[in-house]
Order: sequence, then structure tokens, then C-alpha cells
Amino acid sequence: MKDIRTIYLLTGNMGKFKEIDRWLQPLGMEVKLLKRNFIETQADHLEEVILKGMDIINKEGDINEPFVKDDSGLFIDALGGFPGVYSSYVHRTIGNRGILDLMGDRNDRGAAFRTVMGLYLPGKGVSLFRGECRGMISYEERGKQGFGYDPIFIPEGRSMTFAEMSVEEKNAMSHRIKAIRGLVEYLSRG
Ligand code: IMP
Repeated sequence: MKDIRTIYLLTGNMGKFKEIDRWLQPLGMEVKLLKRNFIETQADHLEEVILKGMDIINKEGDINEPFVKDDSGLFIDALGGFPGVYSSYVHRTIGNRGILDLMGDRNDRGAAFRTVMGLYLPGKGVSLFRGECRGMISYEERGKQGFGYDPIFIPEGRSMTFAEMSVEEKNAMSHRIKAIRGLVEYLSRG
């Protein structure tokens, strides 16, 4: 295993913190929150958003420890990948109702949640880990669990939305957990 004792996670989201901490703690790593108020760089792809964001933090020059930053989005096939990298903004503005209105009664409802996670290791630079969960957009909002687009996303092979599942059930198949697994596997390698 790489000789890492502490990893900083750049987020204000405690849900993400707990999920990542649960996986890294057994590897003997302590996850600490790193709160930064910086404006997220806009770009066409999640990878670019992450790389540019991590670059800004590195240029500030005060963190010489491993850190992780992640970005996710909902990519709807029939809308050309929208809201994608604009997922936070779109959810804050038109919300799930607005997405359902845009979809209307079209049959092509395929979509994917995607996460890209960047790990910065001093002296090694940035490595990226990706996770995807495919599914479809429901015809109405269903369920009370979770957050964001969960009430309108039905993962592949299931009939319930993410918001109708328990947190554990959703996390086990989520885009984020797939990216975390890649990160954990990388850190566990000698
Ligand atoms: P973030 O990059 O993880 O902050 O995600 C960007 C936006 O995508 C959030 O504001 C959420 O609305 C949405 N999102 C990300 N992950 C999920 C998820 O697992 N379920 C529902 N919405 C999500």
C-alpha cells in the first residue's frame, strides 16, 4: 500500500465525506474535510472541471498533502447529455420538475449518472477515477430518500427510483461508489 496516512477531501457535502471515509478508513487512512470557497470552473467534460479545479488549488500552493475532489452529473441521452456538467445549476434552477417537463412524454428515457474523482498525490500529480450508473428518467417524481435527481432516476434493471431505495441499496450501485472503488484499488496497490 502507498504510504499515505491522511487524505483531504475537498467538499462541503457530509454524505460524500462519510461514503469515502467508510472505504479509506480500513486501509489505515484518515479522511479530513478541506473546505474551500472557490468558484467551480465551467467546462464541457467532468474531467476538465476536476483537472482545472485541482490545478487552481495546487497553484494556491498551501496544500502539500494528498487530496481528492469529485464532480458528478446526470447525462440524459435524449437531451444530448444535458444537464451533464451543469447538473448543480440546473437542479437549483428548474429542478426535477423542469427536467420532467423537458422530457415530456418521449419514450427514449435513457440516462446515466457519472462521477469523476481526482486524486492528487504530492510528487505524482493527479490520477482520475470514473464511475457510471446507467438507468432511465421516470415519468414522475417518486420517493423521499437521497438527494438531487434521485426521485427521477431509475437504475438499470430496477423499477424503483434511487429515492425509493434505502441509502445503502443506492450506494451499493451508485456512480460514486464505482469511482471510489477505483480509487481504493489504486491506493491499495503497492
Ligand atoms: P456533485 O458534483 O456531486 O456536487 O453533483 C452535481 C449535481 O448532480 C448535484 O447538485 C446533484 O443535484 C446531482 N447529483 C450528483 N450525484 C447525485 C446522486 O447520486 N443522486 C442525485 N443527484 C446527484
